[in-house]
Amino acid sequence: MSTQNLHNLQVRLAARPRGLPRESDFELVEEPCQPPAEGEVLVKVAYLSLDPAARGWMDDRRSYIPPVAIGEVMRGLAAGEVVESRHPRFQAGDRVTGALGWQRFARVAARELTALPATASYLDALGPLGMVGMTAYFGLLDVGRPQENDTVLVSGGAGAVGSLVGQIAKLHGCRAVGIAGSDDKCRWLTEELGLDGAINYKTAGDLDAAIRDACPDGVDVYFDNVGGAVLDAALRRINRGARVVICGAISQYNATEPIAGPSNYLMLLVQRARMEGFVVLDYVPRFAEALGPMARWLAEGKLKARFDVVDGLENAPRALLKLFDGSNTGKLVVRVGEE
Ligand SMILES: NC(=O)c1ccc[n+]([C@@H]2O[C@H](COP(=O)([O-])OP(=O)(O)OC[C@H]3O[C@@H](n4cnc5c(N)ncnc54)[C@H](OP(=O)(O)O)[C@@H]3O)[C@@H](O)[C@H]2O)c1
Repeated sequence: MSTQNLHNLQVRLAARPRGLPRESDFELVEEPCQPPAEGEVLVKVAYLSLDPAARGWMDDRRSYIPPVAIGEVMRGLAAGEVVESRHPRFQAGDRVTGALGWQRFARVAARELTALPATASYLDALGPLGMVGMTAYFGLLDVGRPQENDTVLVSGGAGAVGSLVGQIAKLHGCRAVGIAGSDDKCRWLTEELGLDGAINYKTAGDLDAAIRDACPDGVDVYFDNVGGAVLDAALRRINRGARVVICGAISQYNATEPIAGPSNYLMLLVQRARMEGFVVLDYVPRFAEALGPMARWLAEGKLKARFDVVDGLENAPRALLKLFDGSNTGKLVVRVGEE
């Protein structure tokens, strides 16, 4: 395929959102593709991963990674096929993943790409075998350090990361309970993923009591994806020596006022517990350690991944909102080009 006749479509950041992002915060731009320079590769994007972190990257504030600049292509993980390569490690037809951005064609340095294992699908590479899977694996096992028979409670339990956390906890002999935002999601957790309990935080009423009922022996590991009132309720039920894993706080990402801290944090003192945040990027050198077991559990059907696939790159800005209204179950992706 010659790059000369290829047209790129990009979603660029047009404005910094206040609160929930609006479509006017993004700009769709069409322009001819530029051929790769020496050391670069041109990739045709097949699937784009939509992640809650994208909301944070739109804000100009101190974080673990610089914000996306106004006018810049939105940052995002994606998977696709090499169209043209000017690096010996890749050739046309290779399947790769990387931070390809919200665009149809990405011109990136070869060092920023990872080749997909022959048996991995694009979707798996953005789900259980990608950043999401690595987040669940290292966040739970390295930061949460569950022991057999521990009770592991996970919020955002039916989401991309959370649904894997619950299943990995079960595979490690734990009792696993998920918190999610609908009865359908809760049924999926208990009936299909084999969790021991699930709480619908939207209808539970007294969340503290609901957690007490679902976790009668208390909580040894709380894996938090959502923050806010759910984190506070979970803190009330932690056991002595518990590990509270701060993976994310999606309930706070669109806050327009300063975020209130968890009022029950003194339970950490009472229970001699530890609360620790982590960023999956720090585990990149150890990814190989997780990929073996994750791929094996997937192949054996012990780990199930669900995907919410939205068609068309132009729909990415609207689709991002699904993460904040909870209308996604499992990993949210956009199908950008045909496979
Ligand atoms: N630390 C790291 O390195 C790292 C890496 C990747 C992801 N993360 C974090 O992990 C978390 C999950 O990410 P994901 O990709 O797996 O997303 P996800 O869970 O697939 O999607 C987000 C889910 O969050 C729930 N949610 C949205 N607003 C909420 C609110 N106000 N209160 C409670 N729940 C709410 C919704 O489910 P319900 O229907 O249940 O409400 C929604 O489906 C995010 O916080 C993300 O930032 C961290």
